[in-house]
Amino acid sequence: MKEQTRIFLSGCNGKMGHVIAEICGTYEDMAIVAGSDKNTEALPFPVYDDPTKCKEEFDVIIDFSHVSALPLVLQLAAKTGKPLIMCTTGLSEEDKSALFATADKSAVFYSGNMSLGVNILISLVQKAASVLYPEFDMEIVEAHHNQKLDAPSGTALMIADAINDTVGGNLEYVYDRHDVRKKRDKKELGLHAIRGGNIIGEHSVIFAGPEEVLTISHSAMTRNVFARGAVAAARFMKGKAPGLYSMENLVGTK
Ligand SMILES: NC(=O)c1ccc[n+]([C@@H]2O[C@H](COP(=O)([O-])OP(=O)(O)OC[C@H]3O[C@@H](n4cnc5c(N)ncnc54)[C@H](O)[C@@H]3O)[C@@H](O)[C@H]2O)c1
Repeated sequence: MKEQTRIFLSGCNGKMGHVIAEICGTYEDMAIVAGSDKNTEALPFPVYDDPTKCKEEFDVIIDFSHVSALPLVLQLAAKTGKPLIMCTTGLSEEDKSALFATADKSAVFYSGNMSLGVNILISLVQKAASVLYPEFDMEIVEAHHNQKLDAPSGTALMIADAINDTVGGNLEYVYDRHDVRKKRDKKELGLHAIRGGNIIGEHSVIFAGPEEVLTISHSAMTRNVFARGAVAAARFMKGKAPGLYSMENLVGTK
């Protein structure tokens, strides 16, 4: 039997918490030993209303909850020195400072998108941009379900920022061209959002050159991709020394 990674799951009664529990049940080397949530409905492991009350021994904390849970989750990480995989989004600059400060005491893994595929797409796109820009024009197209509130997606912006960093940081993000009558400038990076039906999440980056077009794209088939990424991060982070880690460390680009 493989050595187990024992997980403390913050937000265990949420949608992602339930998916993580389901996925961990399919891996021999993963076990959820306790969790926390403001909804303390019974689960097959102890559920605390306050994570710092946890009595069980664990190796890694996974958090898919809400920013309001952050202070107590950070206390748990600092108190135990165990690695924290922070997947909750919507963190303010102040929240991020508190999170990054915790990396002095325990290993902190943070990513706005836990999909392995999206993070590999980002590294491939950076490689392509470093070779093809400025000769090729770059445009990002994303598609999501009709319930999504923000546009473009946070992931499209993550991809745009990664491209921009790669090519020197001078790109101008263009979201809409309907009221301009001018030719495309080399500095433009177009971002386009499609909304409809139940599309989980699609991102394509188009590199259009004078004689060829390269498109690199990713489609999420189910929301489980984020949970699988978090479980892969838990395996990777077990026993890691304090410091800040990201998907770039996990997918081997850093
Ligand atoms: N990084 C990624 O790839 C990724 C992917 C999916 C979701 N997310 C993020 O993960 C978070 C959770 O997503 P979800 O879809 O499971 O949401 P959800 O609303 O279904 O679940 C959140 C859970 O957190 C609990 N909670 C809320 N406030 C709390 C508090 N103060 N203390 C303790 N528990 C509290 C709720 O009771 C709920 O059970 C969101 O921020 C979401 O954006 C990130």
